Amino acid sequence: GREWTEVGSLTEGLEGRTVLVRGRAQTIRAVSKKMAFLIVREKGFTVQCVLTVSPDVVSLGMVKFATGLNRESYVDVEGTVSVPNSPIKGASQQVEIQVRKVYCISKAVPTLPINIEDAARSELEIDKALQAGEQLVRVNQDTRLNFRVLDLRTPSNQGIFRVQCQVENIFRQFLLSEGFVGIHTPKLIAGSSEGGSAVFRLDYKGQPACLAQSPQLHKQMAICGDFGRVFEVGPVFRAEDSFTHRHLCEFTGLDVEMEIKEHYSEVMDIVDRLFVALFDSLNERCQKELEAIGKQYPFEPLKYLRKTLQLTFQEGVQLLKEAGIEIDPLGDLNTESERKLGQLVLEKYGTEFYILHRYPLAVRPFYTMPCSDDPTYSNSFDVFIRGEEIISGAQRVHLPDFLATRAEACGIDVKSISTYVDSFRYGAPPHGGFGVGLERVVMLFCALNNIRKTSLFPRDPLRIAP
Ligand code: 4AD
Repeated sequence: GREWTEVGSLTEGLEGRTVLVRGRAQTIRAVSKKMAFLIVREKGFTVQCVLTVSPDVVSLGMVKFATGLNRESYVDVEGTVSVPNSPIKGASQQVEIQVRKVYCISKAVPTLPINIEDAARSELEIDKALQAGEQLVRVNQDTRLNFRVLDLRTPSNQGIFRVQCQVENIFRQFLLSEGFVGIHTPKLIAGSSEGGSAVFRLDYKGQPACLAQSPQLHKQMAICGDFGRVFEVGPVFRAEDSFTHRHLCEFTGLDVEMEIKEHYSEVMDIVDRLFVALFDSLNERCQKELEAIGKQYPFEPLKYLRKTLQLTFQEGVQLLKEAGIEIDPLGDLNTESERKLGQLVLEKYGTEFYILHRYPLAVRPFYTMPCSDDPTYSNSFDVFIRGEEIISGAQRVHLPDFLATRAEACGIDVKSISTYVDSFRYGAPPHGGFGVGLERVVMLFCALNNIRKTSLFPRDPLRIAP
């Protein structure tokens, strides 16, 4: 086969070499009948290709053909790499291709619902351009999502989903190195796994069933099956009614469950080491991607400590109180107080990533272990990035009769989860774990304002297509 070069790897070192690239015709500009510029984009990187009429190489017909290409058509370009005297605007690569051949291998329709260059601009750039009298269309979120395959082509989106892949990758690598086993729990289950109403119900061959709201019950049952430490990466379904910037009806859950030897802090210790390793590696290995994201959506790098800060819920309530915000000490934090606490923690401890633990039992799911010294509190925790929750976790009740009592107290029909409760009747170790929302991690690490930006094809209460 022929040798192909990626647009992103076109650098000055290739000067004078003949290369063959495949990408999209992002913009086409005719300078005259004899000369045209073609910006070719591949995976978010762009290169300027120059067509100049010259005997036996580039004909007038070829320039005409190139200038007649529809934007976003897929093209193959062959030519020589050259280094221009002045910097190239409008392309990421600082070399040009002097074109010898252009082929169109797939034509795009003449009018596109989204102009990729407009979709790739930052708010600031848009404001400036509009002020300068430039004609452009601000691409709104619904339009982006309706035509997601076009929207995904922007450099920021190319970055976002590569960062997401890296989060999943590090999660897996870190846990494997700590002796965890990757598992897959069923997504079709008989009853709701988190309690509450946010569950998609369906008919399972005549029996009522639902889509799993989390791997919660089965990951614990895997502990009863002697795997010791397990993790799962898989879809989570929530029939959320809330239309917010951080709730989806389907998201990717990164779940962990493990035996506890002495104390639930063993689980928080995994969170600490996992996330410090994760943030380090994103900063180290995803520089290009983070830069591309930041170009469109400027953000400050996440501030985190080498050893993750742990505060108790009571300490959090106290911090809020000192700042003049009274909240119910046995209630839950709402979005606003979580944000506020995030700011206070940043001011006091210099971190935007921290663990809040020992929540009031009343605001936690039925399977949560109460504190042995004071059962109004629980061996549970939430984890926050920039004042928003990315994780909830806890030690679980592994005593079957107590578990049944707790389920009943929380209004759950014990019969609907009897196989789960019974799993603990054959002996079960103390255990705990946590669940991470993948989309939320990426959203908050990059300080993006909406979870739909970090879901490839988001599912929300109003959207099931594309
Ligand atoms: O807080 P949640 O509901 O906890 C559980 O599912 C437990 N079974 C976890 C455990 O092991 N104890 O969900 C865990 C995480 C949240 O912190 C959040 O990051 C994410 O999942 N999440 C959502 N992400 C997007 N859209 C939604 N509707 C989400 N609901 C939760």
